Amino acid sequence: MSFVDVIAKKRDGRALLREDIEGFVTGVTAAEIPDYQAAALLMAIVIRGMSDQETAWLTEAMVRSGDRVDLSDIPGVKVGKHSTGGVGDKVSLVLAPLAAACGVVVPKMSGRGLGHTGGTLDKLESIPGYRTDLTIDQFKDVLRRVGTSIIGPTAALAPADRRLYALRDVTATVSSVPLIAASVMSKKLAEGGDALVLDVKCGRGAFMTSPADARELARRLVAIGAHGGLRTEALVTAMDSPLGRAVGNAVEIVECLETLKGRGPADLVTLAVTLAARMLVLGGRAGEADAEAGARRALASGAALDKMRALIDAHGGDSRVVDDYTRLPQATRRSAVPAPAAGFVEAIHADLVGRASMALGAGRRRIDDPIDRGAGVLVLKKPGEPVAAGETVLELLFNDDRGLAQASALAREAIQVADAPPALPPLVLGRVA
Ligand code: URA
Repeated sequence: MSFVDVIAKKRDGRALLREDIEGFVTGVTAAEIPDYQAAALLMAIVIRGMSDQETAWLTEAMVRSGDRVDLSDIPGVKVGKHSTGGVGDKVSLVLAPLAAACGVVVPKMSGRGLGHTGGTLDKLESIPGYRTDLTIDQFKDVLRRVGTSIIGPTAALAPADRRLYALRDVTATVSSVPLIAASVMSKKLAEGGDALVLDVKCGRGAFMTSPADARELARRLVAIGAHGGLRTEALVTAMDSPLGRAVGNAVEIVECLETLKGRGPADLVTLAVTLAARMLVLGGRAGEADAEAGARRALASGAALDKMRALIDAHGGDSRVVDDYTRLPQATRRSAVPAPAAGFVEAIHADLVGRASMALGAGRRRIDDPIDRGAGVLVLKKPGEPVAAGETVLELLFNDDRGLAQASALAREAIQVADAPPALPPLVLGRVA
């Protein structure tokens, strides 16, 4: 069957065969299928969906498109973590050293920003010298020495995802349960490890905006993990407003370091501790009753901060940033976005803040766009906090004002103020095990 026929089959709502999916993945990996045809099939999948069976075949084919890391010679239980992506979602950068400080080994391959959501790699690369392109042997060496290593996707692991991820980002084909499930799990299965904790984001700032879709994504992710022999658990967590108070790259590194020093914003601390506890339980390092307390102790004692320092050093980064934030990329200019009225902040719409941050240069519109690691947005007033009329709610950080007008308009639209304190939704919306 020609690839045009495969596209037409999905366009017409028919199920793909295993060989159709394998042909697609091998063709994409070998660059034999042109981007326009791959994008057409991706769009047909977004619109028509995929069954569990098709999604499993897609995931398997994507895993087989490259190598699988063998971590069996690394002592200890290896527990991964992955988020489906949010705004201000810097949890991995707190969680990896935190869980490692509590005794699980945390291998982590992270991605770059996708759409309006940020990427852990872009944030980490704001640390001068930090190398995200380690070989698998170097990655394993850091895991052995430090207990955690965070690198970028290597060309050898799930290379099909690398191409598809980049294409989806620029063709409006990210928000699809089967495509996200196959993308995430192909990388996690290729990465090795014994167990995996997933943070499935749900809300305006996430790819899944409805709780039903987020739960469905969580269900599929956990099922694929179990099928692939990975003990997998997913939390569905709220992503209506940015997590923490910083959105961007270097500013998020500062917020992570502050959190590791015990001065983090409540939502970020809660989520990092909750996810760390799930990792400890899944990895058999703590019981249900004491896992959270163990994670909080590692944060309070400075053990997690020490791990962060060791992680940066092991990756060739300048760990002096831990004590001196001026060593990170900076924004030379700032612009305040005021509250339109007095009252209580009812919402800070995460998607709009993410787009404002992109407009200031902190994210990319196209695959190869350079980014400004000093740019971003600070959330000075979070939902639930009181504000006076004209008081600064958001602060825009930038070096180049080309996107300022657009960013200001988005930021103004993101702020919603009410007369009375709003009822705030819980951070953790559910768990799929
Ligand atoms: N994160 C991924 O790794 N893949 C997606 O498709 C979306 C979020």
